Amino acid sequence: MTNEILSVDIGELAPGEMKAVQHAGLSVLICNVDGEFYALENECSHAAVPLDEGTLRGCELECDFHGALFDVRSGKALAMPATVAVRVFAVERRGRVLSIRV
Ligand code: FES
Repeated sequence: MTNEILSVDIGELAPGEMKAVQHAGLSVLICNVDGEFYALENECSHAAVPLDEGTLRGCELECDFHGALFDVRSGKALAMPATVAVRVFAVERRGRVLSIRV
């Protein structure tokens, strides 16, 4: 973590949706879970593929490649084949702008 703040317009991101943003070589995935926003590294801990191609159900994100599940609130791996958590980033919301500490 560099303690940089990444500011993202989340006005168009509806509940149940996610979007990836790029920052200094890092891909960050923002998830809207029933109006609460979470940010995590957009890379599966199993085989380093993008998680934004997966499926978000509630606070669980399923990797599209081999079916691993992650809790987007904590990054914790919930189902095999992933066993290692995905990095999460602290967020603060002001209106339609999300500040992400990366
Ligand atoms: S790459 Fe995500 S589960 Fe294998």
